[in-house]
Amino acid sequence: MCGIVGIIQKNETKIGEEIIHALQKLEYRGYDSLGVAIIEDDKLIIQKDKGKINEVIEKIDIAPISGKIAIGHTRWATHGPPSKINAHPHVSCDGKIAVVHNGIIENFQELRRNLKEKGHTFSSETDTEVISHLIEDFFVNEHLSFREAVIKAIKQLVGTYAICVISTNAPQRIYCAKKDSPLVIGLNSNRIFVASDIPAFLDQTQQVVLLHDNEFVEIRSDGYNIFNLISMEQITRAPYTVSWKAEMAQKAGYPHFMLKEIHEQPNSLYNYVRMKQKSVKKVAEKIYVAERIFFVAAGTAYYSTLTGEYLVRKFNKKLSQSIIASEFESILNLIDENTVVVPVSQSGETMDTILGIKKAKEQGASILSIVNVVGSTITRYSDEVIYLHAGPEIGVAATKTYLAQTIANWDVGLELGLLSGSFNKTEYESHRKKFNQLPKIVKTTITNNEVQARTVANWFSKKKSGFYLARGINVQTANEGALKMKEISYIHCESYPAGESKHGPIALVEKDFPVVFIAPKDHTYRLIQSNIMEMNARGASTIGVIEENDDEIKNLVTWSFKIPQGYSEIFSTIPYVVPLQLLAYYTAVKRGYSPDKPRNLAKSVTVL
Ligand code: F6R
Repeated sequence: MCGIVGIIQKNETKIGEEIIHALQKLEYRGYDSLGVAIIEDDKLIIQKDKGKINEVIEKIDIAPISGKIAIGHTRWATHGPPSKINAHPHVSCDGKIAVVHNGIIENFQELRRNLKEKGHTFSSETDTEVISHLIEDFFVNEHLSFREAVIKAIKQLVGTYAICVISTNAPQRIYCAKKDSPLVIGLNSNRIFVASDIPAFLDQTQQVVLLHDNEFVEIRSDGYNIFNLISMEQITRAPYTVSWKAEMAQKAGYPHFMLKEIHEQPNSLYNYVRMKQKSVKKVAEKIYVAERIFFVAAGTAYYSTLTGEYLVRKFNKKLSQSIIASEFESILNLIDENTVVVPVSQSGETMDTILGIKKAKEQGASILSIVNVVGSTITRYSDEVIYLHAGPEIGVAATKTYLAQTIANWDVGLELGLLSGSFNKTEYESHRKKFNQLPKIVKTTITNNEVQARTVANWFSKKKSGFYLARGINVQTANEGALKMKEISYIHCESYPAGESKHGPIALVEKDFPVVFIAPKDHTYRLIQSNIMEMNARGASTIGVIEENDDEIKNLVTWSFKIPQGYSEIFSTIPYVVPLQLLAYYTAVKRGYSPDKPRNLAKSVTVL
């Protein structure tokens, strides 16, 4: 996730050193490039490049630059791949205005077109660059004061943002604004900081002012003023003292990144939903006409592809198959120019997946990928890319990117359903309405199940093994639930299609053996009930992930997790997995393990 920092200080010292130090404190958020803007002797100095901070400062000596005012940025690519040109800050044509931004400007194409028509020249592919040019336009062409030009420019933006602006046109100020992306102020006797996250300045001050949405802030070396961006009324907000240690602050107060990322899911799904990527339709159209469709991925990402495989079969009425990336070789003889291959990957760097799509491409297949990391290797082999927009994931066990991968598969599925006539326009619109509500549903699911997850985890933590069972599309949810439990709590858990459990695995079931059932009220409901009774009859302790009003299954199982109504048939793979993430997390913690760094595992597997 991009990191922003701004510093304004009373004395002219090596501010380059200060801004780099603050950016280093934001490194944990993940980034691919960085940059700073500093006003030195009435000149705006911009230094930026692709890479990690240590690599960049070896090439560009930023530390000795002195001045009183600076802004900096670590970038996690969303529009345009990681590169020097796309790194922030972005400047106006005259080089006098510098902007750093965290978030997504949804109307940037339109703004960019208008500004180009007025003669502005753009040097990057980013959405952010429109901001510096807009400000310049209002300042130079409409002769507004610099402050008014900044305010007017911000009011044109649609989307999410935390923005800091500095300029030689107003060399004693940092102007900031916030909507949906975080922004905080830190105060000490010599400096005022503004940052996307408290750790940026926590070693220098614990005095913090939290900014709210639709606020505009003017920061001077001796103070700050906050205004409501809509009414422009001034807001008084005194600082408070944070008691967090640096590590706690990086995790926004959560004890582990994994829990933070589980809680970030409503937000990352919201980011995905509102992007409305054009590539989704293009991917669906190519799948629709293809003869053969293969999904390819590893681990958690593989499980997300089972939604895709299922939806292509259901809506496109074609045989499609998900292949575990390391087994891709076995279907190579089926791949030609009439084949579509859909790799799904958080990192875009999983070697098994890369090798598979390389060979598929050589044999003429179209590669239509679903990836989180912009500009990663898989995206470079792809004919179309759908981005997850989930932000960096720090916990090794995938959570928020799994939900994002699954929602992307649903997104393509909906387009396929419309194309193939599986549902009409009215039904499509009604599905889209529900699709857009998924972030809210996931939020409610987290809130309603967290306490229960802790309770069940206390019991599960004493077990040696367990089963996760489901039918239909939610076999994937069972797979992912069992994998999460295995990889972070080291309890041996297996997942099966519930009907298959009778053909062998049930032999393991004895008194108090844990069996988790994913039991939405869809066409699998009655059969799942029978499977629960079979397990109960053998002494198992059963846990149901059920719809909130489902008293029938609630009365059959020992514990239940409750999902809001209306998401049983369509989209069920999104909310039904959430309690299982929480269960795995709290079980690992109860057993004394760190969920963020499971033994023997790496975040990105770049070997075969
Ligand atoms: C499990 C997990 C892994 C990854 C797998 C693929 O929690 O994170 O199973 O899903 O290694 O990684 P990506 O998605 O980067 O290709």
